[in-house]
Parts: sequence; C-alpha cells; structure tokens
Amino acid sequence: MAKKAQATWGGRFSAGPAELMLKFSESVSFDARLAPFDVQGSKGHSAMLAHVGIITAQERDAIHAGLDAILAEIQAGKFTWRTQFEDVHMNIEQALTKRVPAAAKLHTARSRNDQVATDMRLYFKAACTDIIQRIDAAQRAILALAEANADVLIPGYTHLQRAQPVYLAHHLGAYLEMLQRDAERFAVVQDHANWCPLGSGAIAGTTLPIDREFSAKALGFVDAKGRPRVTPNSMDAVSDRDTYIEFAAACATVGVHLSRMAEDLILWASQEFKFVELPDAFCTGSSLMPQKKNPDSMELIRGKSARLQGNLHTLLTLVKGLPLTYNRDLQEDKPPVFDSHDQTVLCLEVLAGTFAGTTVHRDRCATAVADPALLATDLADYLVRAGVPFREAHHVVGAVVRLAEKKRVPIDRLSHAEVQRVHPKLAPDWIESFHLDKAMARRTGTGMPGPAQVKRQLARWKKLLG
Ligand code: ARG
Repeated sequence: MAKKAQATWGGRFSAGPAELMLKFSESVSFDARLAPFDVQGSKGHSAMLAHVGIITAQERDAIHAGLDAILAEIQAGKFTWRTQFEDVHMNIEQALTKRVPAAAKLHTARSRNDQVATDMRLYFKAACTDIIQRIDAAQRAILALAEANADVLIPGYTHLQRAQPVYLAHHLGAYLEMLQRDAERFAVVQDHANWCPLGSGAIAGTTLPIDREFSAKALGFVDAKGRPRVTPNSMDAVSDRDTYIEFAAACATVGVHLSRMAEDLILWASQEFKFVELPDAFCTGSSLMPQKKNPDSMELIRGKSARLQGNLHTLLTLVKGLPLTYNRDLQEDKPPVFDSHDQTVLCLEVLAGTFAGTTVHRDRCATAVADPALLATDLADYLVRAGVPFREAHHVVGAVVRLAEKKRVPIDRLSHAEVQRVHPKLAPDWIESFHLDKAMARRTGTGMPGPAQVKRQLARWKKLLG
C-alpha cells in the first residue's frame, strides 16, 4: 500500500517510503544525542537569517523560543522521537513547525548536509573537552599513586625480562607522558573541528544573501582573536569527514595507551609479580574457583582498545573511494564516533578508579629490585670509568654473569679474587656497583630515573595538573 509522501522532501513523490525503508534509513535512534547541537546550530542560523533580513526579528525570536522549549522537553525525556522523520534534524524541525509558523522559514539557505556537518563540528568541540577532562582525572589518579610510593623501586623490563631498576614513580610517569600527548591530540582535533560549514548548503551554497561569517561567530567558530572561521569550499565542507577520523584515531591511540597500562597492571597484580593489589571494586571473582580475584576491568580496557581501533577502521573504509560530495553512506559515520567517545570516557574513568584504589606491595617490589643482575650495566659503566672501552666492558661483565650462573650465586656474591681473574680493572670497589641507592643517584640526566630527576618530574606534574 502506498504511504503518504514524506513531509519535508516528499514533494516530487507520489508514495512514501516503505516501512522497511524507514527502519533501514532512520538515524534518529543514534543521532538524537545531537539535539543540543542541532538546536544551537538552528539558533545560530536563524539569527543570521534575521540579521540579513530573510526573516524578521519576531520570527527569529519565535523560532528561538520554540527551539528552547523543544530542547527542554528532550532533556526532560518528554519528547517523542519518531522514526518516520528519519533523523534528529527533521524530528526537531517537525516539532518546531507544530508550535511556530515561522519554523517553515528556518531551513532557508540550509541543507541537512551543511546542518549535520555543523552539528557534528559543535559536537566534536564538546566531546574533545569532555575527553580532555577525563584524561586529566586519570592523570591525577596516576600521579597520586606515584607520589604515595615515591621511594619504591621496581625492576624495569625490556622483552619482559628484568632490565634495570627504576622508581615505580618513573614507570607511572611514562603513563602521564602518554596521556599528556593524548590530551594534546584531542586539542588538535578540537581546533580542526573549529570551522563553520553553515552556508555550504547541499553542495553549492545558496543564491540567497546570507552572511556566513555572522553564523560562524554566533556559533563560536572563531579563532583566538575572535575572527570567524568559515570553511572555504562548499563541496569539501559537506563531504569532509577528516575530523571524525582524527577523533576516532585519537580515541584509538588513547585506547592503545590504556591497554598497555592495563597489561602492566594485570602482570603486576599476578601472583608471579604481586607488586600491586588492585581494588576489589574493579575486580571480579570466579564462579568456580573461590580463590580467584580477576583484573577484569583491566582486561576489558585491553579488549575495548580493539573496539576503538575497529571504529577508526570503519570510518576510514566508509570514506575511502566515496565520490564527492555527500552520499547517504555518510550517515554511518556517527555510530563509530559516538561509540569511540563513550567507550574512551568509560575506559578513562575505570582506569582512574582502578589506579585510585591500587596499593603497592612494597616488600615484593623490594625483593624483585634487589636482584643484582639489574645492575650489570652499572658494572660495565664502572669499567668504562676505569678506561675500558664499552664493547670490551660489556663482554667482561657478560663473562662475570656467566661465572655467577655457573657457580649458582648472585653476581654480587662472587669474590673479588674471582672477578679480578676475569678482568684486572675490576678493583675491590667493583662491588659498589651493586649498591642500589648509589646506582640510582648516578642517573642524573633529564628524563632518567635518578631520585632527584624523579622528584623533579613529580613536581612538574603536580604543577601541570594543578
Ligand atoms: N541523517 C543524515 C546524516 O546523518 C543527515 C543528512 C541527510 N542528507 C541527505 N541528503 N539525505 O547523514
């Protein structure tokens, strides 16, 4: 049976879309969350229309009041979203038309193509602020753990083999750096989003005398000096999805970072390491094995990082080979973006909560870091200070390590007589290379894990995070 033609675009149709087509093509089930930005965009657009005299000031005010009332209804959960109106834009416009006669003029010199591009840019600006705040909160939780355990040393690992001693705070400081770059990445995305596409129309602008700069200013698309930023090409403006990809890439990168932190915590919480105790609140038990305390929160972060990468891939594939300009394929750009936003926020919150409740098993850390093999490189440096070329020194210490292994004793339990037979430059003070505190104090350069440097970095972070 033929359905009634669609209200906003049905003029040239004799029949409306099939029920199945409505179900297939709707986006309101996921783009309804753009409502605040759609209302903001429409207010800016109608302010511009009044400014250039296309609508009257009274019509503008009626439109603004109507939009405010609709948004209030939406936020109170009292608005009825209708699939038959496809998307957030048409749902709001239809509701407005019922209240305000002037609503019929709102869509003058505008297309849903530049409308959705505008909504999304407003959304990205807010989403980046949101995520940057969560990153900041996660950094604070990590810094608090570092400060509370500033004197704890642990082995640092390469190839997951004990490498050299580091302060736990130095290891955690690496996380702070990773997250700081993430925050900077979102600030860049936010800046890239800060261009106003309104006035680009469906593809080729409009013949009506609009003022794009006015719209841009009204919506806050301005540079640091308050000058309007308007997109310079109407075709690019309605088909460009770079910001979506950049946003998803930034989320995927945070995800990768969080997955590495999660993996460290999973290892550290295992019986084999037992460097830390994760909070009960972010762990789960086993339905079968009563003794288990599983780090599910961290495992889920590791898992969700795959999902964030998938979203990025979805967006890249969506845009690849797509002819200019707008194609309906692009409606599929929103679910991966929203999912990346939501999951990134969740992961950051869970990470912050987990770090906030984590305690350090100092005894286990102390035992692990007491392994003198961690300072084998320091013994090589000792030989370098005595004038031995590093390559030779490396070889000599290797032979000392082998000797200790053969005798089944820790390297610092070999006698001076034994090591001197390996190399004459190994004087009686060779053993001081294994003095952990002295060894750490020698690491004085910027970025190194010496106590003075770590203290300096902690102070820097404290200042940075306020
Ligand atoms: N819901 C659509 C989207 O998100 C809005 C743009 C529709 N434009 C069109 N020409 N059908 O892409």
